[in-house]
This record gives sequence, structure tokens and C-alpha cells, in this order.
Amino acid sequence: MNYRHAYHAGNFADVVKHLAVVGVLQHLRKKAAAFAVIDSHAGCGAYNLSGLEASRTGEAAEGIARLTNVSGGPAALTSYLELAKGARYPGSPLLAAQLLRPQDRLVAIEKHPEDAATLAATLRPYPKARVEEADGYRRLLGLVPPPERRGLILIDPSYESPDEFREAASAVAAAYRRFATGIYLIWFPIKSTAEANSFCGEVLTAGAAKVLRLDISRCQMVAGKLNAAGLLVLNPPWQFEPDMRASLDLILPRLECEARFDWLAGSP
Ligand SMILES: C[S@@+](CC[C@H](N)C(=O)[O-])C[C@H]1O[C@@H](n2cnc3c(N)ncnc32)[C@H](O)[C@@H]1O
Repeated sequence: MNYRHAYHAGNFADVVKHLAVVGVLQHLRKKAAAFAVIDSHAGCGAYNLSGLEASRTGEAAEGIARLTNVSGGPAALTSYLELAKGARYPGSPLLAAQLLRPQDRLVAIEKHPEDAATLAATLRPYPKARVEEADGYRRLLGLVPPPERRGLILIDPSYESPDEFREAASAVAAAYRRFATGIYLIWFPIKSTAEANSFCGEVLTAGAAKVLRLDISRCQMVAGKLNAAGLLVLNPPWQFEPDMRASLDLILPRLECEARFDWLAGSP
């Protein structure tokens, strides 16, 4: 486990993923009924973008740092930008923790012991957020369906091992069999179109009726860097796609990226 998210926090792909997380949570907050968030690969929770790691890659400088004076847009965008303007950049579990209501809860799973400890310290002020140091794939299956029967499952692995696409797809399929009404957000890097397409095909075998794929790619490829990433959204909430489109219209020109939306199953 060599991957450290501190090098990549706040880059173009992180921004779009976190915007999607906020969009889904805002949707879940519309009903009074409690929801659960399960973040299977949670990271540290918060990142110092002036630190050594972020400075070394410069990824946040080409990402969230370019969005400081964006205004307006859908509620998800304004809320995300508000949450992201603090001293430390919030990762997915900190964004979620800040959007929980008293009736909601978050389980954030992180395998790396150091990152899990940092995450536990970051989430200490949030009584409805629990951190588990564990394997996210295995633990996820023990946590679904959540008793609330509503919620977001975020699967955001580091894809370090060659087998990890297969492992992620089979974890999604197994979780989906137990909790078919959940909203799932699955992030993946696109280093090869064939590999990404085959991963999406494997996730589709889970049988979700509605699956939206959103790809974000740099307008100009940069050698040696991640140039594209995707998000699969199983059971996307009502208006998720048009809201994401409207937000991305505002931010993608600044990130010098473009988006592609594809309904792999069902339609809006
Ligand atoms: C892409 S980062 C997560 C970023 C985080 N979701 C966010 O958006 O802020 C992936 C994280 O998964 C952790 N990880 C790797 N393998 C894991 C596993 N099998 N179970 C849980 N966490 C794992 C890594 O240590 C890393 O912190």
C-alpha cells in the first residue's frame, strides 16, 4: 500500500468526485428519514494543500485552487466550494461528516494504519462518524444493507494492484445484491479505455437498473500524469445528471477538462 492521497487531493478528478458526493448527500438530506454513508476507501479526511506532497505534484494547484472565485451554480457546487475553502482540503469522509444531520451516520473505512489514525483524529468532532481501520471491500459487505435502508456507498480505491479493478467490481456486485436501493458512487482512473470499459461492463453485471457513467478528461494530455478518470453512479438521484452538467459547465473550463456522460443502464 504505497498510494497516499495527499499527493492527489484537490486535483481535477478529486474535485468532480467530491462535487458528486455533495450532490448525492444533498439529495438524501431532502427527506427527513435517516441515511447512512459508507466510504470504503476513506483516506485521511483532510489535506494540507501547501504541504510537501501537494506541492510536489502541483495537482491541487491545477484543480481546486483554480476554483476560488467561482460563484453561483447549482446548490451542490456552492455547498462543495464552501466546504472546500477552509485551511485544509476536505476529503470524502470529512465532506460527508459535515453534511450529516443528527439522524444520519457515516462509516469511514481505511486500511492504511497511519491514514486511519489521522482520519479518526479528523473526524473526532463528528459524533455520527465512525472510523474503522479495515479492508474496505470485506468490511463493506458486513455493513450493507444499512438499517436505514437509504444511503450512499462510496467506493474510491487506489487501484494499486493489477487485480483491483476486478476486486472493486465484484465488491460492488456483492454489495448491490444486498442493498439494491442504495446510491453507489464508484471512482476509477482511466489509463486505458479498454480497461475502463471492461471495468464498467463488470460493474453492470451487478444488475443495477440505472447506471450513469461520467468521464472527466484533460483537454490536453500531460505525459506522466493521470489524464482521465471516471465515476459510475448506480441509482443516481433525480436531477443528478442535469445538476452535475450545470456545475461542470462552470468549473471545467477552469480545470481545462471536459466531461462525457453516458447512461449505461436505464435513462434519467
Ligand atoms: C483514493 S484514496 C481515498 C480518497 C478519499 N475517498 C477521498 O475522496 O478523500 C484511496 C484510499 O484507500 C486506501 N486503501 C487502499 N486499499 C484499501 C483497502 N483494501 N481497504 C480500505 N482502504 C484502502 C488508501 O490507503 C487510500 O487512503
